[in-house]
Parts: sequence; C-alpha cells; structure tokens
Amino acid sequence: MALNQGKISFLELPTPLQFLPSISKDLGIQLYIKRDDLTSYGMGGNKLRKLEYYLHDAKAKGATLLMTVGGAQTNHGRLTASVAAKYGMKCAILALDDYPGELSSNLLLDRIMGAEVFLKKQEKGCPYEAQLQNLIDQVRRRYEAAGEKVYFIPMGGSGEVGVPGYYDCAVELAQQQSAMGLPACKLLVAVGSMGTYMGLFTGIFNEKLNLDLQGIAIAPFYKDPADHALEYYKNVAAYYGLSELPTRQDFAIRNDYTFGGYNNAVKEVREAIYYLARREGILLDPCYTGKAFYGLMDLVEKGSIAQGETVIFLHTGGQPGLNGPNHRLAMETELMDGIHVM
Ligand SMILES: Cc1ncc(COP(=O)(O)O)c(C=O)c1O
Repeated sequence: MALNQGKISFLELPTPLQFLPSISKDLGIQLYIKRDDLTSYGMGGNKLRKLEYYLHDAKAKGATLLMTVGGAQTNHGRLTASVAAKYGMKCAILALDDYPGELSSNLLLDRIMGAEVFLKKQEKGCPYEAQLQNLIDQVRRRYEAAGEKVYFIPMGGSGEVGVPGYYDCAVELAQQQSAMGLPACKLLVAVGSMGTYMGLFTGIFNEKLNLDLQGIAIAPFYKDPADHALEYYKNVAAYYGLSELPTRQDFAIRNDYTFGGYNNAVKEVREAIYYLARREGILLDPCYTGKAFYGLMDLVEKGSIAQGETVIFLHTGGQPGLNGPNHRLAMETELMDGIHVM
C-alpha cells in the first residue's frame, strides 16, 4: 500500500544497494550501502525523493516559485533549486544564518542553478521560530508583489507531503533485500529534520518490512527524539488516514553522536570520512552522513551491532558540504602532508 499522494516522477529508481567488502571484513559485519546520494539532479541526495511529492502539490496549486528554509549550507535548499530549475520555476532559499564568508559549497551551487538565497543573521533574545517566520513573511511578500505564486516547503522537506518519498524507499529496499537474498537487516540513517527517518519508519511499520531502523541524530534535539517522532507520526497518520499507531518505544533514534552541534567540524567524523573514502572509494559529508557513519562504527565497536549482522547504511548525500569553509580548512591542515608541490 503506497501512501495516497500524487507525485511527479523524475528520479531513476531504484538507487543501487552495494556491498562494501573491505569495511565488512574490517568490522566483522555484512555492510551494504544504499546510494541515495546518486539521485540524478543538483548533485543528488535524500531530499529529491520528498521533492517529487512537493513538486506535484506545488504544480497542482499553480505555484511559480518554490520557497524553503534551512541553514546557509542547506542540502535541501540546493536540491529544491535543482527541481525548480528543471521544472521552470523560481526558487528562494531562506536561512537565519551568517554568511559563511565565501560563496562556496551549496551556496555556490544554489546560485549556479539560479536560486536566490536570503541570509539573515539570527538576533539574540528573540525566539528562533518567530524570527524565521518574520523572514518567511517578508520574502514571501516581496515575491508576491512581483506576481509570483509562492509554494512553501518546510525545513528539510519534513512535513507530511514529503513522507511518501522515504516510505517508497523502504519498500524499494525490502525488494532489493529479497532479490539479493539478504536476511533481516539493520538500517542506519542520519536524522536531521526527521522526514527521511519518518518516511522509512512509516513504510517499515505499515508494510511490516524486515528492516530494523536505527536513526542517528546529527544535532541535539530540544526534546526526546522519540517524543518528537511520535508527535510527527500522529500528524502523518492523521494526514494519510493510517489507523495503527506506534508507541514511543517503537522509535529508535540515538542522540549520542551529535558532537554537540549542527554542522560542526569534528575530527572523529573527518576520520570516518577518510576511512570510507580510502577503503571503498565512497565520499560522505561532514554534517550528516559522516556523523552517522561514525555512529555505525562505534555501535559495532560497542557490540550494539553484533558481529556477523547485516547492516544497510543509507547514504543520503550532502557531499558539497565537504567544501564548506569550516570543514575544508580543518581537512586542509590534516591532508596537506600528501600534497607534494615539486
Ligand atoms: C545529506 C543529508 N543527510 C541526511 C539529512 C537528514 O534528513 P532529514 O532532515 O529528513 O532528517 C539531510 C537533511 O538535510 C541531508 O542533507
């Protein structure tokens, strides 16, 4: 049963599910990677599956402009820009954030694809949500005055409309699992605004799939992630008319691999990135997948993932973040030893 929501299909699916032989041997598990970083627009990533649904809704409502919010280096913003470009729409990306000091990484890609980016420094002493709403209202008025019909996509594409994107992905994974003869698998995913996790969870829960979902939060949650997830699920269930409700114990989201912040430069995370890159030739990103992959390795070391277990790591993309100034400068000092200027 797919969730009842129209979509405009632009992805070439399924994305590959690849075995990682070297790291499987190193860690003593059977490790697979689901390559959602290889989705085909704007350098790829998880948000495109959600955007197939948002785009349909936006077009049905006659929108001419996609507007969304995030951090200055939002991957979701970049992918929204790519979809807007492909479908002849305008795009505005809003961030309550500082200008990172250079036009690099996702900001550069946003502009290459024609999106406009609005950055506003966060003021101290005024709640984040209120400031963000002011910014949204201000920019919306500006475009509406110019005759645009604005369609707003919530942060990370994590409302109800995008949830079927990762519901479908869970079903797609279960089909690959069965075609490849894999046993029950643990499925690890980075959790930011939670839409990806929620889509997977909703698919696994309602379709009774043989996947044991483990989320890894990449930034601290203000409340217990399981409480947040249950509230989110209730909204999703009401929107799609799902009758069976989980309990908070059904959600598994670890909050202990955040390293205390969002998109912060962390040595252990960079080392996890170098490790996967050097053993398997696959690049992670420093904000999301690097933290989640570090979490995976630590869970193996601590025995929470058992020896011999079959594990799928969902690669959600984000690699342009490697060129974000804070990460790039930290990596430069670590990697210069292998640059030989002769
Ligand atoms: C590369 C990458 N991975 C994972 C996530 C987390 O997805 P979600 O926000 O749906 O939890 C994001 C969100 O921006 C992302 O950009």
